[in-house]
Amino acid sequence: MRAAAVISGLLMVAVAWTAVAGPPTPPRGKGEQCVEPTEVMRRDHMQFLKHQRDETMHRGIRTTKHSLIECLECHTRKDEMGQFRPVNAEGEFCQVCHDYSGVKMDCFECHATTPRQPKNLPPRAAVEPGSDISLRLHIAP
Ligand code: HEC
Ligand code: HEC
Ligand code: HEC
Repeated sequence: MRAAAVISGLLMVAVAWTAVAGPPTPPRGKGEQCVEPTEVMRRDHMQFLKHQRDETMHRGIRTTKHSLIECLECHTRKDEMGQFRPVNAEGEFCQVCHDYSGVKMDCFECHATTPRQPKNLPPRAAVEPGSDISLRLHIAP
């Protein structure tokens, strides 16, 4: 009886807390707008990314509209040292929502998490097109 009361009390606190905290707000992207309307992006970004991947890898179609690399240009921030924070680091754009929703994704095991930084690029000829390093360094073959 008493235990039940305690448990239902805790549940009410939990529900109230969720209502107050609500869904997370990721840091705002750069620029005026996203590559699609915000509502659409919120709901369908994973479809766009997967579609873009299939177009590129299976059909050789290269556009940049839904490219993963493009996302980084607008959705990364710099730390106090002026270094880019990985977009999947704690508190950063992709991670804020995915943590909240328990989304696990392996994309960043191969794909870069910070934007192009020309000073880091080795001579183009030294990089095998499509290799792991070319993905990390954002070099399109
Ligand atoms: C095992 C490594 C690996 C993993 C994991 C991986 N990719 Fe890729 N991805 C690649 C390679 C290799 C290419 C081809 C690169 C090229 O030809 O430019 C590619 C290409 C792409 C492209 C097209 C290029 C671009 O940026 O427009 C997209 C989009 C993409 N992947 C999205 C994803 C997403 C989303 C995930 C996670 C669900 C993912 N990838 C996981 C290796 C990987
Ligand atoms: C030109 C800059 C730009 C690019 C490129 C870009 N975004 Fe955005 N994105 C924004 C801005 C700005 C907003 C916020 C718009 C608003 O508040 O209405 C946004 C919003 C979003 C949202 C909704 C966030 C929320 O608060 O609910 C998602 C998800 C998103 N972008 C994912 C992506 C993905 C995935 C890519 C790459 C395929 C991408 N964006 C490319 C600028 C960009
Ligand atoms: C506004 C919140 C939000 C933001 C910001 C966001 N995501 Fe997501 N993402 C989600 C949710 C929620 C899901 C799970 C949707 C589902 O399971 O139907 C998801 C799922 C995904 C998936 C599919 C995972 C899988 O393998 O099924 C990919 C890929 C993905 N997100 C990529 C990204 C990338 C890359 C970024 C940053 C550029 C990003 N997301 C930013 C909310 C977000």
